[in-house]
Amino acid sequence: MSIVLNEQKSLFTLCTKTSMYQMKTDQYGVLLHTYYGKKTEIFDYSYLIQRRDHGFSGNPYQAGNDRTYSLDTLPQEYSCFGSGDYRQSALSVRYQTGARALELRVKDFEILEGKYRIPGLPSIYAEDGNRADTLVITMKDDVEDVCVKLYYGVLEDLDLITRAVCVENRGAAPVFLERVMSMCLDKPYGNYDWITFYGKHEMERQLSRTAVHHGVQAVGSLRGASSHQYNPFVMLSDRNTTETQGECYGFSLLYSGNFLAEAEKDQFDQTRVLMGIHPENFSFKLEPGESFWAPEAAMVYSDGGFEKLTHIYHRAFRNNLCRGRFKHARRPVLINNWEGTYFDFTGEKLLRMAEKAADLGVELFVMDDGWFGNRDTDNSGLGDWHVNEEKLGCTLAELSDRIHAMGLKFGIWYEPEGISEDSSLYREHPDWVLRVPGRNPMRGRYQLVLDFSRADVRDYIFDQMCSVLDRAKVDYLKWDFNRSISDVYSAQLPADRQGEVPHRYVLGLYEFLERLGKRYPDILLEGCSGGGGRFDAGMLHYTPQIWCSDDTDAVERLEIQYGTSFCYPVSTMGAHVSACPNHQTGRTTPLNTRAVVAMAGTFGYELDPGKLTEEEKDEVRKQIALFKEYYDLIQEGRYYRLTDPARDEHYAAWEFAKEDGSEALLCVVASRARTNDPPTRMLLRGLDEGVLYEAEGKVYPGGALIHGGFPVPEAKEEYQSWMFHFVRK
Ligand code: DGJ
Repeated sequence: MSIVLNEQKSLFTLCTKTSMYQMKTDQYGVLLHTYYGKKTEIFDYSYLIQRRDHGFSGNPYQAGNDRTYSLDTLPQEYSCFGSGDYRQSALSVRYQTGARALELRVKDFEILEGKYRIPGLPSIYAEDGNRADTLVITMKDDVEDVCVKLYYGVLEDLDLITRAVCVENRGAAPVFLERVMSMCLDKPYGNYDWITFYGKHEMERQLSRTAVHHGVQAVGSLRGASSHQYNPFVMLSDRNTTETQGECYGFSLLYSGNFLAEAEKDQFDQTRVLMGIHPENFSFKLEPGESFWAPEAAMVYSDGGFEKLTHIYHRAFRNNLCRGRFKHARRPVLINNWEGTYFDFTGEKLLRMAEKAADLGVELFVMDDGWFGNRDTDNSGLGDWHVNEEKLGCTLAELSDRIHAMGLKFGIWYEPEGISEDSSLYREHPDWVLRVPGRNPMRGRYQLVLDFSRADVRDYIFDQMCSVLDRAKVDYLKWDFNRSISDVYSAQLPADRQGEVPHRYVLGLYEFLERLGKRYPDILLEGCSGGGGRFDAGMLHYTPQIWCSDDTDAVERLEIQYGTSFCYPVSTMGAHVSACPNHQTGRTTPLNTRAVVAMAGTFGYELDPGKLTEEEKDEVRKQIALFKEYYDLIQEGRYYRLTDPARDEHYAAWEFAKEDGSEALLCVVASRARTNDPPTRMLLRGLDEGVLYEAEGKVYPGGALIHGGFPVPEAKEEYQSWMFHFVRK
């Protein structure tokens, strides 16, 4: 059993394959956190909680004159504002009276078979063969009828624990939620590092590692989407944890909107981690009988460094978060016309590109932005989702048919949440955008944002999309979103519900994507937000792949994909080979290197194939054949980071290995050409010692490759790259 109770039913121990998580209800009904770490024998870890009389840490009335009992110092499972805990809180409410106090006490619990789901929000699910149990702990305030249910999904074989929170107003008056975090974790002992992923447009998810210091360290987003700037995935690790050794914890929020992740080191050197919806500009009114769900957080503990943590997330996200028929199906090698043409295309031009691409072995042609309304630049047309037949020179069905006749599948770009002021939709419905009354809205890429918290707005856009998708054979859809949200005000909600807009927007987005996925199960959906501005676990529940970055430079991609790989599987990372000099950086890299880097993702092309030389065309044909050959190994195998491209100046290297150790693919890019290079080797991982592997016509024992390594050839060209395939004999 993955959820174990003691005889008094006060100690809850959750066990996964290698981790253990424990909580205890104390004598006052407070739920204390007692342990999270390596799986051991089940034991009451509350012996580690030391209580002392600390000045200025007050004592609840219940504790009488016991000055050693303070919620300000105890490790709590879900801390509330107004309870005497002065650290950052998990939950903060306001009553109609204006009072804010909340003291939650455990009232009940329930163990359910299987994994809970959350209405309208993404969550990890168990599949046949997955062991999954749910623990629900119900807590209540003794004065106000506010009830909080803590949900724990214990996915034993996936080695992962999920958390979610449901707050119910069982009283007679409205309650306002001001902060509802999805998880809270108190670590009374230890010095930790706080690892986050920061970035910007065209350089997302760069790893930052700093010591947790006294005070609060936080990352988050108030941009309405999870953002390019910070990712809703963070880690806590020991100070000396490395890629392959040491303890670390991962926290991934399955949410695509405003979020906050905080680490606080308190006056007694205790560390608290919180993660959830950003409380800034958030409030949610709960009428009597109403409830609110905070999004799910997926937590992983690893005693084998970051690599083990990554493998746990990759497997769970690939198999138990992504859905639909493309979860495991081989995704087609695509060509996207964006960097090849931008807005400057006609139907004829696209057909010429498609014809050339088909000849190279490409399998899917994607028509990007510019096919609808009066969209010839990025300052018009968004919202008018009718085909510009004049520009295409035919109907969409005809274009799609002609592309299919070439043996290619056909894909299309959309930005359903965006609206241009120069559009018929805006002229008819200016009130459908997010806008603060009496103020001009802020523009981003010239455009405004449709109010996706509104069902009528979503329904209209959905119908518009259906009328296009129903009339042509479409096999792929790229869902883009090209600005941050501002002017957060919905014309449809009353004043005291305006704080709900950011969350209702995300719920609306998910509702739309769910509907789209159900109606068109055969369309492969790719998420995108100006590249990787909404690359999060929430989106992966609806779109099994996400365009990783608008930066297609292979060398910059090394760092972007490195950072992304800590939590997100290779099969989810949109990556393309583009033309050189690269459009973002002006850098020229070998075509082989661009392909080696893009193959550590979904793999495709984004260039005008008509501009390739005959020699390059031959190379592309070989790349596509190679990708297909290694597809399973790359997409379903284990991913190993062999170097850190941001710090190792010399070579960037990574490896894919089959779970059974039978096969591996070593990929190396010379990040900087130098004369008289010192000899370099790569130590392989994921292979079996004591068996033989063949690579490059030679035979090596697994142990030699693991401990002796594989020599890297000397680079003879700037950014040269190699792939070495190892097969068990
Ligand atoms: C941003 C995306 O990331 C690009 O790939 C492209 O689709 C443009 N938007 C189109 O406007």
